[in-house]
Amino acid sequence: MQNFTYHNPTKLIFGKGQLEQLKHEIPQYGKKVLVVYGGGSIKRNGIYDKVMSILKELECEVFELAGVEPNPRLSTAHKGIDICKKEGIEFLLAVGGGSVIDCTKAIAAGAKYDGDVWDFVSRKKVAEDALPLGTVLTLAATGSEMNAGSVITNWETKEKYGWGSAPHTFPKFSILDPEHTFSVPRDQTIYGIVDMMSHVFEQYFHQVDNTPLQDRMCEGVLRTVIETAPKLLDNLESYEHRETILYNGTIALNGMLQMGYRGDWATHNIEHAVSAIYDIPHAGGLAILFPNWMKYTLDENVGRFKQLAVRVFDVCEEGKSDREVALEGIEKLREFWNSLGAPNRLADYDIDDENIEVMAEKTVAFGEFGNFKTLNKEDVVEILKASL
Ligand code: NZQ
Ligand code: ZN
Repeated sequence: MQNFTYHNPTKLIFGKGQLEQLKHEIPQYGKKVLVVYGGGSIKRNGIYDKVMSILKELECEVFELAGVEPNPRLSTAHKGIDICKKEGIEFLLAVGGGSVIDCTKAIAAGAKYDGDVWDFVSRKKVAEDALPLGTVLTLAATGSEMNAGSVITNWETKEKYGWGSAPHTFPKFSILDPEHTFSVPRDQTIYGIVDMMSHVFEQYFHQVDNTPLQDRMCEGVLRTVIETAPKLLDNLESYEHRETILYNGTIALNGMLQMGYRGDWATHNIEHAVSAIYDIPHAGGLAILFPNWMKYTLDENVGRFKQLAVRVFDVCEEGKSDREVALEGIEKLREFWNSLGAPNRLADYDIDDENIEVMAEKTVAFGEFGNFKTLNKEDVVEILKASL
């Protein structure tokens, strides 16, 4: 293992009816609250009314920023920052999925900064302060509810980057009620499942020795998600299965799995370049790219791929080479995602080879990348071609 320090300051408040905890959390931070949300799902499923009624009871002065897009845009963060600066907002409450939370993190940091928040996203500067924020999560996927990361798209320049600044952009608290995810449609439920599994893969593929517990924890999350996902898709309003998936999504990316080593994270970088141009769902891109990244990097460390195949996908080793076992595991992953209904090729989103060079160029904006295998632009072109 490598040396590490782990500190996650987000208070995780999980379970049925836990929205009531807002009454104890918000007063610690102030009365002027900006509620940030997306395109209206929280109005249709009643969460908006419940949140507003609690804020009213707390006698908060409430401001709203609606319309945060999936793949949240810089221009929307700017709107929120303007409200914060003009109105003297004291606390930000994100109510929604990862996009709403990520946008809220950008608003929180931008509100305490004289320059453009894009300086943080484009890594020119590191945020040194932020308004406090809390979240009411409505979609199991990104883990943004319990990490400091945020992904923002500049639609004008077609750039999408992840950024963050611990501890400032960690939510102070996150409220996760499985019932809040009942209304997540089938396709978004599938994307969430693919995203959380991908987060585990990004971490599982590393080159550090002696991580037996970390490996078992990653494998535990993957096996649990694989077991639960088909049952949840059979009954989208199963409390039990929504609960399991919601908890897995948080554990997959709150830093707990990645102690003592650095994960790879190359596939996320490639996907961000694809969705920066084509605005496709993040995990739709991951479902297409991950098996191809795996095949491309397999020979860096066949042993890890073989371990995944045997321990997670129950591939039988008998009479096969390590490479054959590893390849069978990758194929099983692809089959599993296909069986859920996830996309398989870029063509599923009508993406052809027109912008392959442009996308590959974007992935190396900050240099070569990937901690399991370092990738350059030509490597990315190959992975994208295999994904067409
Ligand atoms: O906008 P509304 O109307 O709320 O609808 C959303 C949106 O259309 C809908 N939705 C959310 N909760 C719902 C619901 N519909 C019905 N019932 C509910 N309870 O779902 C759609 C997608 O929402 P979005 O927030 O975009 O999804 P997700 O949570 O998957 O977030 C994706 C974004 O997060 C970034 C991605 O790149 C992408 O921009 N990521 C952030 C990470 C992080 N901060 O740690 C890591 C991830 O790897 C990822 O890159
Ligand atoms: Zn992701």
